[in-house]
Amino acid sequence: MKHFLDINKTAQDDLRAMIDDAHAMKAARNGRPKGALDDEQPLKDHMVALIFEKPSTRTRVSFDVGVRQMGGQTMVLSGSEMQLGHGETVADTARVLSRYVDLIMIRTFEEATLLEMAEHATVPVINGLTDRTHPCQIMADIVTFEEKCGPIAGKKVVWSGDGNNVFASFAHAAGQFGFDLTFTGPETLDPEQVFIDEARAKGATITIERDPVKAVEGADLVVTDTWVSMHDAPSARERRHNQLRPYQVNDALMSHAKPDALFMHCLPAHRNEEATDGVMDGPHSVVFDEAENRLHAQKAVMRWCLGK
Ligand code: CP
Ligand code: NVA
Repeated sequence: MKHFLDINKTAQDDLRAMIDDAHAMKAARNGRPKGALDDEQPLKDHMVALIFEKPSTRTRVSFDVGVRQMGGQTMVLSGSEMQLGHGETVADTARVLSRYVDLIMIRTFEEATLLEMAEHATVPVINGLTDRTHPCQIMADIVTFEEKCGPIAGKKVVWSGDGNNVFASFAHAAGQFGFDLTFTGPETLDPEQVFIDEARAKGATITIERDPVKAVEGADLVVTDTWVSMHDAPSARERRHNQLRPYQVNDALMSHAKPDALFMHCLPAHRNEEATDGVMDGPHSVVFDEAENRLHAQKAVMRWCLGK
């Protein structure tokens, strides 16, 4: 079963094939209307379940549109409206859905839910974000970097802010795609050490630098994300903001990166918190290309999962 659970659990050749496929499928759409079918319809006669236990705009719409462009059909399910949200086990949900659909994408809280779904489903399962990782986002980010700047291998990527789920998938990707990754943020919000150790074990250079100005020196790509994720307690908001304020990505910080550096944010952004309007809307920013590339990257992921 070809689940897409995390970037570190997927073979390097397969990851590269998906990125290349995403570029090719994007080019092949050739400006046609968003609702037009692709020339190839690899998901014809396929039904895809998209389960959300957390809010979503990009993941929800890009998966839904992607399936339809490839000739398939979707159903978008809210976890709280399913029996899953009222005591039915994840395992039974996985077994039942596998009788109806060909592919399951789930956005959930605990990673254990995703893993249990994958263990008991007899169709492929895709990780649409957990508290720990967000692999589809980073596949789109690699598509975005490479369409602007060429191969990401050997490039310097700097993450400024919270060591969260999106950072974790960047660390997985550093190990698999061979780029250097610097984390700059407060020690209290460091990423889990296992993500750092694993990327280093795969040969990636991972640096922790508390000074954001030093961190971004020579960066090819600067990335940030919200200071309070969906799984963080709202009561932690003020403390997190106080700790993360020095790591805001603003024009002054970007001026220390390479002149042609890119700026990325997975969105949704809290403008003028983790990144200023000047950066979000400025010349380095590729945030809306990233959002678009969720569509192309995930179409490639779904084709890979289904062997199409
Ligand atoms: N970046 C991202 O996953 O966005 P959504 O929460 O809108 O899906
Ligand atoms: N770190 C954020 C990403 C949202 C796409 C969250 O988990 O809320």
